Amino acid sequence: MNIHVADGDIGNRTLAIVGELKSLEGPLLPILHAIQAEFGYVPQESLAVIARELNLSRAEVHGVVTFYHDYRDHPTGRHVLKLCRAEACQSMGGDEIAERIKTLLGIDFHQTTLDGAVTLEPIFCLGLCACAPAAMLDGELHGRLDTASVAELVAEARR
Ligand code: FES
Repeated sequence: MNIHVADGDIGNRTLAIVGELKSLEGPLLPILHAIQAEFGYVPQESLAVIARELNLSRAEVHGVVTFYHDYRDHPTGRHVLKLCRAEACQSMGGDEIAERIKTLLGIDFHQTTLDGAVTLEPIFCLGLCACAPAAMLDGELHGRLDTASVAELVAEARR
């Protein structure tokens, strides 16, 4: 979920979250997790606050955000479609499915459709290898994708 808030509000809310969690051992990941749960992504404005409060450089915080694929540094669309790009899914036609989805949506991985409806992201194993190729739409798993079911999935995502 994306919540559109003013920069100052992001800073204040980030400060409150950091205040709640900074006493944890290894607080950076829980803080980033909470920030993403709050805003739907980790805003640039939050990085400066987190860095200052944890005595880290902004580059260090940014490095962690970019290292972990689950953190986003930009808002997503209203729906997030994650397509598995790991081996079992690739071996069951995952590349063809990926190309089909990209064509249907008119975007590449890590992009959002112009109408703000769908963000497409790669993911590396959804634990559904027996039903490869697999995808997840807004947290709901879909397996044994083929060109027909992918078109339905994309239509569902665009609604
Ligand atoms: S490799 Fe795709 S779900 Fe495991």
